[in-house]
Amino acid sequence: MKKALIVANWKMHKTRTQGRDFIQKLRRLSVPRDREVVICAPFTVLSSLDWKNLGAQDMFWEASGAYTGEISPVHVKDAGCTWVLLGHSERRQYFSETDSMIQKKLAAAVQNDIKPIVCVGETREQRKRSQTFRVLRKQIQALKRKSGFVVAYEPLWAIGTGVNATPEEAQLVHVFLKKLVSVPIIYGGSVKPENTASFMAQSAIDGLLVGGASLNFADFRKIILSF
Ligand code: PGA
Repeated sequence: MKKALIVANWKMHKTRTQGRDFIQKLRRLSVPRDREVVICAPFTVLSSLDWKNLGAQDMFWEASGAYTGEISPVHVKDAGCTWVLLGHSERRQYFSETDSMIQKKLAAAVQNDIKPIVCVGETREQRKRSQTFRVLRKQIQALKRKSGFVVAYEPLWAIGTGVNATPEEAQLVHVFLKKLVSVPIIYGGSVKPENTASFMAQSAIDGLLVGGASLNFADFRKIILSF
C-alpha cells in the first residue's frame, strides 16, 4: 500500500518535555494505516521521543571529524531517526546552504540509509516573473539523482505566511516535478486542518510537510484525520 506521508516540521520549537507530551498524545491516536506520520524535531529533543518515524531537520555530510557544531548521519541514526529534511528554504536563506551542499547531504543520507526529504521552492518574485519551473528544474537537477528520496515542494511565499498555494497550483507543480524525478512529492506551506483534504484530493500530491500547524496537537490531529 502506498502511504500518504504527513511530516511535522517543528523547526526551532519545543523542549524535550513538550515533545514527549505531544508524542504521548500522538501514540494514543489510531493513525489510519494508509498514512505515515514523521516527526522532525530539534536535535536535542529527538532521542527523548518514542516515535517510530523520527526525522532530523538537517545533517552534515561527513560521518565524523573536526566540524564543531555539526551533526553527522551517524548521530542522526544514533538519535533514532530514519528520516532527514534537507535543503529547507530557511537553511538556504539563513544559513547559506547551496544546491551543491544539499546534493552532498542527499548522497550522505542515501549512503547511510536515512530517508531524505529534499525541499525545493520558488520565491514570490520568481513566481511573478514566471520562473517557477526554471528554478525548480535547477534545484532538482543539482541533486544528481532521480530516485531514492522524497521531494517537498514548498513555495517560499507560502511558508509561515498563512497564504497557501491553491491545491490546483500545487498539483501543476507536482506534475511538473514528477516528470523530472520518480519520487513521492509532498506539499508544504501554510498547510492547515482546513485545507488538508483539498491538497490530498490532488492526484500528484503524495503527502504534506506541516510547520506551524504541527506544533499544536489538536491541529495536527485534525490534519492526520481529515482526508
Ligand atoms: P508552515 O511551514 O506550515 O508553517 O508554512 C512549512 C515548512 O516550512 O516546512
